[in-house]
Amino acid sequence: MNNWTRKDFLKASLVGGGAALVAGSSRLHAQAPAAARSGSANGGIRVGVVGLNQQGNGHMMNYVPNGRGKVAGAILAAVCDCDSAVLAKRKGEAEKTGNIKVAGYTDYRKMLEDKNVDAVVIATPNHQHSLMAIWALQAGKDVYVEKPLSHNVWEGRQVVEASKKYSKNIIFAGTQNRSSEDIAEAIAYVRSGKLGKIKYARGLCYKQRDSIGKTTGDQKVPESINYDLWTGPADMVQPHRNSPKYGPVHYDWHWFWNYGGGDITNQGIHQMDVARWFLGEKGLPPSVMSFGGRFGYLDDAETPNTLVSVFNYAAAPLIFEVRGLPQKTGMRAMDALRGTRVGVIVQCENGYVTISEAGTCNIFDNDNKRLSQLNKNTLGAHRPNFVKAMNARKVTIGDVTECHYSSALCHLGNVSYLVGAEKTNAALAEAIKANEVTKETFGRVLEHLKANDVNTGTTKTVVGPLLAIDAKTETFVGSDKTIVAAANKSALLKREGRGAFKIPVMQSGAVARS
Ligand SMILES: NC(=O)c1ccc[n+]([C@@H]2O[C@H](COP(=O)([O-])OP(=O)(O)OC[C@H]3O[C@@H](n4cnc5c(N)ncnc54)[C@H](O)[C@@H]3O)[C@@H](O)[C@H]2O)c1
Repeated sequence: MNNWTRKDFLKASLVGGGAALVAGSSRLHAQAPAAARSGSANGGIRVGVVGLNQQGNGHMMNYVPNGRGKVAGAILAAVCDCDSAVLAKRKGEAEKTGNIKVAGYTDYRKMLEDKNVDAVVIATPNHQHSLMAIWALQAGKDVYVEKPLSHNVWEGRQVVEASKKYSKNIIFAGTQNRSSEDIAEAIAYVRSGKLGKIKYARGLCYKQRDSIGKTTGDQKVPESINYDLWTGPADMVQPHRNSPKYGPVHYDWHWFWNYGGGDITNQGIHQMDVARWFLGEKGLPPSVMSFGGRFGYLDDAETPNTLVSVFNYAAAPLIFEVRGLPQKTGMRAMDALRGTRVGVIVQCENGYVTISEAGTCNIFDNDNKRLSQLNKNTLGAHRPNFVKAMNARKVTIGDVTECHYSSALCHLGNVSYLVGAEKTNAALAEAIKANEVTKETFGRVLEHLKANDVNTGTTKTVVGPLLAIDAKTETFVGSDKTIVAAANKSALLKREGRGAFKIPVMQSGAVARS
């Protein structure tokens, strides 16, 4: 396998401008206390942000004096985007707002060579996260990596192993619900046993998603974008999308398997993380099964806009529902289940907890009487918590292994869908009739599709197999060799990368569970 080691990285850096020493010295910086390694005039940790279009713009401004949500103790030193138009715009905005000078890069590897950068924030598309995080650790930088941690299960595991290997550096995961004091308190409440045992945890992503339109063939990449860098470890293919809002490259990659995983992996990862956190399950489940489809419109996108994934954890099942279609045809509003659209419902024997997208927790008894509300809403503390972790040289929240497992759940749910086959809804109803929670969920899915004028009598649904998972090796196992082989071949389980963008292999032998 042709993977980059840290030695290769330093060698390549040397070829690329004598920067081996730079990367080496930066690593020394990273190991020293934050105050000592800070080289900026105001004593802040020097941050480089990569991927500036939308989410990265918010991150960038967090480190700019006078910027929105400025985080104390850190300052923007560099920005990077492989779209030179985005780079020029954001660099200009940062410099103007903060009255500062920042370095600008189109090639992330060059930003990693910059000895004035102590830490990087990765806000590029999902398919870049793992590779960029590992490279940053190898270059001696601290890392904030946006969710999901990975495009596929295997590369996420490589990041976890890299975090152990380069443990002097901080790696902080962008699943911001982990900074919610309300959720932590609600979990403590449930664990105290006051509501009895958990019967199931349900993640919901009812988020309206329009058609992205339909193109007739390969679309031209804008000249401002270095498409080789943008594609990175993904397969090199021309874009087949061109929505008026995002054009052929940005954002809509979420709906293509080569880069994203649909809304379960996009928005849903947050709620998946909260649901798994409630269950207290630290690892992958023994099995997964999904069903769904892309209903209501014909467009370029590949990922389902309707998906149910059931993860059979020992503690209790975790059921995840994605809906991209509105309440009914012609409406913009989304359905709500127990007042929750994008959120989590944890059903216990004697009551339930709802957790909203903003992190507000409501605790009810089974007669729907609210027992308590927790709404300190501290999700916004996540980015300051990154700076705190860097100063403390220790991650207590934002743990990358936790983010790996929650990201992996999204990928596993999608793999079951991808190796599934189209079936009639009558056949699906028959297949799941023994499982009360799945049956009830499917009943609501059918009602929702009917409200959106989908003919559920004739339209087929993709039904994935129940796939057994070996949590130790993080692969699929089972007696149906054909299905297991197909699932294990999925790029959402493992993809090694491409050319100069191969994922460094960090794992030696069997997966060490942490
Ligand atoms: N935590 C949250 O709540 C939250 C919210 C929104 C987005 N996100 C995450 O942030 C990430 C970015 O989302 P977005 O909506 O801004 O996407 P986007 O497609 O709008 O922007 C991504 C940017 O990254 C740049 N980029 C791509 N590859 C690059 C490379 N190799 N080097 C340098 N720049 C590169 C692109 O040119 C683009 O400007 C996603 O992974 C998303 O999941 C997180």
